[in-house]
Amino acid sequence: MSATRICALSELEQDTALRVEVEGVPMAVVLDGNGEVHAIGDTCTHGEVSLAEGFVDGDTLECWAHGSAFSLTTGHPLNLPAYEPVPVYVVTIEGDDVLVDPAVTRPTN
Ligand code: FES
Repeated sequence: MSATRICALSELEQDTALRVEVEGVPMAVVLDGNGEVHAIGDTCTHGEVSLAEGFVDGDTLECWAHGSAFSLTTGHPLNLPAYEPVPVYVVTIEGDDVLVDPAVTRPTN
């Protein structure tokens, strides 16, 4: 599987998550305050709700349901009740295109 365009860089609002689906894989895409784009698994590992509906705070995305904050760089939740990480996908920027390969994830430890 190769990298797929998921959105335009100009579509992303800073500190706001955008939900996309690539090859059936739901992802939450975030442009952080440092201008870096992250893509993590969109499904919370606690209650299977969409993390993209949650809140960006620094380098975390907080689940709206029960407050677990997932690291945008490692995918690990920093607090309970979630304890399993979400996948972190490798993002490539080409011009105004944001590309992600759903088959490629960063190590999460
Ligand atoms: S559903 Fe996400 S922390 Fe409970």
